[in-house]
Amino acid sequence: MNCLVTRRLPSSVIARLEAECEVDLYTGAEAIPREELLARVAGKDALICLLTDRIDAGVLEAAGPRLKIVADVAVGYNNIDVAAARARGVEVTNTPDVLTNACADFTWALILAVTRRLGEGERVVRAGRWAGWGLDYMLGMELRGKQLGIVGVGRISQAVMDKAPAFGMSVAYHTRSPREIPGATPMGLDQLLATSDIVSLHCPMTPETHHLINQQALTKMKRSAYLINTSRGPVVDEAALVWALQQRLIAGAALDVYEEEPKVHPGLLELENALLIPHLASATTETRTAMADLAVSNVIAVLAGRPAVTPVP
Ligand code: DGY
Repeated sequence: MNCLVTRRLPSSVIARLEAECEVDLYTGAEAIPREELLARVAGKDALICLLTDRIDAGVLEAAGPRLKIVADVAVGYNNIDVAAARARGVEVTNTPDVLTNACADFTWALILAVTRRLGEGERVVRAGRWAGWGLDYMLGMELRGKQLGIVGVGRISQAVMDKAPAFGMSVAYHTRSPREIPGATPMGLDQLLATSDIVSLHCPMTPETHHLINQQALTKMKRSAYLINTSRGPVVDEAALVWALQQRLIAGAALDVYEEEPKVHPGLLELENALLIPHLASATTETRTAMADLAVSNVIAVLAGRPAVTPVP
């Protein structure tokens, strides 16, 4: 049995995999180039990939009939053509749960940082432009008494909601499949956008959620509200967001994900009220190790003929 791994993983995790099968590890610092992926996946039994790798019918075809599993080291698996994999009898797995806490903490880090203008403040200090303390200098928004609006309910957003009482916030949520969440109020998307002080996106990237937050949606938000996106970039129409921020139709935005990573809309780079982070939600040593470890567990299980630990739904 052999497995292609498209990016360096922690050595302890690779050692676990090596004990079970032959490992072909791509060691480049950036995402494996498409041509190299197509060449190296040929004849493999398993593929461990990252969200920066597009695993479509072409890659599955290049892999050939031995391929049994594509194990994504991510919870969001929109980089994989799941239907094409299933049509070939290839299992697809992701890494839920192990990153929930890191991503929820990070969402709160973004909420606090953007409402208290930390990015802006840091830029002022580093540029030597700080003229001293002022009573009305760089004022932000307090969280206590405000409404957190969650779009898309899953493990991560529930963990985000769990922390809201600590900041004195009430919680509203919008989800396509109706469900009860104790202590939180379900709302239609329009009502949630119109009443929330923080709108935090947690939906998966699907054709339905592409540009869910567009010009129309942004105009429904309060002028004092902030948009947080830790889901997937294309859920937000970046050009529309730039326009809304420029027009001050909303107070600010904190983004961890972008439409065409690692490219960022040039308009966003000009805006003081946009906090821009390079896709770091799950980036703690503990969580990234656990994600890699879970992907390897999925591969080991499937190659041994057992059910995958975390197959995608
Ligand atoms: C994921 O796993 O989908 C996250 O985006 C990684 O940070």
